[in-house]
Amino acid sequence: MTRPVPLDVTAVARDAVRAHDGRIAVFATPEAGLDPGARRVDRMTRGALSRLVESPAFARLKPGESAELGYPPGLAAEAVQVVHLPRRSDAVTARRAGAVIGARLGEAGALVLAGAHPRAAGIGAGLALRAYDFRDHKSDPAPPPGRVTLMVTRPDAVRSALSGPMAAVEGVFLARDLVNTPANVLTTTAFAARLVEMRALGIGVEVLDEPALESLGLGALLAVGHGSESPSKLVVMQWRGGGEAAPLALVGKGVVFDTGGVSIKSAAGMEEMTMDMGGAGVAAGVMHSLARRGARANVVAVLGLVENMVSGRALRPGDVVRSLKGDTIEVINTDAEGRLVLADAMWYAQSRFAPAAMIDMATLTGAMIVALGHEHAGLFANDEPLADGLLAAAGGEGEGLWRMPLDAAYDRQLKSRIADVKNTGGRPAGAITAARFLARFVPEGTPWAHLDIAGVTLRKEAGDLAPRGASGWGVLTLDRLVRERFETPG
Ligand code: BES
Ligand code: MN
Ligand code: ZN
Repeated sequence: MTRPVPLDVTAVARDAVRAHDGRIAVFATPEAGLDPGARRVDRMTRGALSRLVESPAFARLKPGESAELGYPPGLAAEAVQVVHLPRRSDAVTARRAGAVIGARLGEAGALVLAGAHPRAAGIGAGLALRAYDFRDHKSDPAPPPGRVTLMVTRPDAVRSALSGPMAAVEGVFLARDLVNTPANVLTTTAFAARLVEMRALGIGVEVLDEPALESLGLGALLAVGHGSESPSKLVVMQWRGGGEAAPLALVGKGVVFDTGGVSIKSAAGMEEMTMDMGGAGVAAGVMHSLARRGARANVVAVLGLVENMVSGRALRPGDVVRSLKGDTIEVINTDAEGRLVLADAMWYAQSRFAPAAMIDMATLTGAMIVALGHEHAGLFANDEPLADGLLAAAGGEGEGLWRMPLDAAYDRQLKSRIADVKNTGGRPAGAITAARFLARFVPEGTPWAHLDIAGVTLRKEAGDLAPRGASGWGVLTLDRLVRERFETPG
C-alpha cells in the first residue's frame, strides 16, 4: 500500500528552523499578518515575509492558498511557503491549507511551523492526503518526499489529535491504490487476496467462491461475471467493535473491469473502467480506517467482485436471470451490470446481518455524471435520518454529496414484458431508475442509502486533497458517519 509521508510532531526549536534545508511552511493572514512561527522566520529573513504578506498578491489569496519565497536569505531552506490560514478556521479549510504544502513537497522534506494553531492536526492530515503518489507501476519513480516535521507548542496533544485522522488517511490511500491499480493486476482473485490480508488488522474476512454463490442462488451477480476468466467472488468483511448492536452494512460494487459486456462500450475512454470497483474500494478503505482507529462500532462490508467481459460464455441482452431474492430480471443491456451485482450483494447483506442501516456505494451510472459532474456524488435514500447523517458527514469532510429523488413513480420505466423487472429504464433519469432498481432489493423497514460515485471516484485533474487519479471519495465521509452515528459511547 502507498504509505503516507512520514510525519513527525515536535516542539518548536529555533535552531532547527534556521538549519532546515528543505521547505518551510508558515501561516499568516492579510488582515492579522504573520502568526508567531511566521514572525520568527520573518526576523531570520530580515522582514522578507512581512513584505510578502503585505503585498497585494497575498491579499488576493483565499484561505488555504499560499505564496512563496525561494532561497530566502538568512535560512538554509529552499523555500518558505506562506499559507493564508486564519487562526479560527474550520476543519475543511485547515486541511486544504495542509494540502497546498503537501502538493509541493520535495525530496528534502518540509518543516511546518504550526505553533499553537488549533487546527494543527487537520493541517497534517491535509498535507498527507495531498502528498499521495501512486508509484507501483513506474520503473523509475521520482524520489519520494522527505520527512515532514510539524513543529507545534503542544506536541503530545497534536500527536493524539492526529491518530484518528491518520487512520482515515490510510483508508483513503487503500481506496485510491485499489482504484488506481489496473485490471490485469487487480483481478477479482487479487482483490479478494488483498482483502484477506486485512485479517491482520482484526477484521473478519470470508471469501465466497463461485460454487458457493451458485448454491446460495446469487444468479444476478454470477451472470455478470460469466464471460470472464476471473472467477466472481463475494467478500464479506466484519469489524466488531460495538458489542451486540446490529451492524451498519456497507455494500460495494467491485467490477474490476467493465467492458460493457456484449452491449459493449465504445473504445474512447474505456480504459477508465478499471475504476469500476470504486465502491468496493471505498468500503475496504472504510474498514481499514475503522480497524486502525479501533472504532467502537459494528460494521460489515459485502463486496461483489466480478469482471464484465465479452466472450462466448458472456451474458446476452435479452437473457433473464434469477436474483438471490427470487425476482427475475430481464437483461436489456449487459452494460447495466452494476445493479445486477448490487441486487444480490445487498440482499445477501440484509438477509444475513439484519443491519441497522445499509449503504451501498457504486460507480453506477454515466447519467450521474451528466447530472452532477465531478463535484458531487449522488445520494438516494429511503430514510431521512440516514440521509441527513450522510449529508452532514460529507459536509464536515468537504466531500461533495447531493440528494436526488427516489420516488416510486420512476418504477414504470423498469417494467418488463416477460420478467419481474428489467435492468434499464431508458435515457430519462438514468441515475434515478438505477436507484429504483436497487430499491427492490431493500426490504421494507431497512434504512438504506445508495451513493452513486461514478463522477467522483476518478479525477482527470488534481483536487484540493488529491493528485489526479483516484480520489478515495467517501472514505472520510463514511468514517465520520460511523463515528457520529454508529459508535457506542466509550
Ligand atoms: N460503470 C458504468 C457507469 C460509469 C460510467 C461509471 C462512466 C463511471 C464512468 C456502468 O456499469 C454503466 O455502464 N452504466 C450504463 C447503464 C446504462 C446501460 C443503463 C451507463 O451509465 O451508460
Ligand atoms: Mn456497465
Ligand atoms: Zn459498471
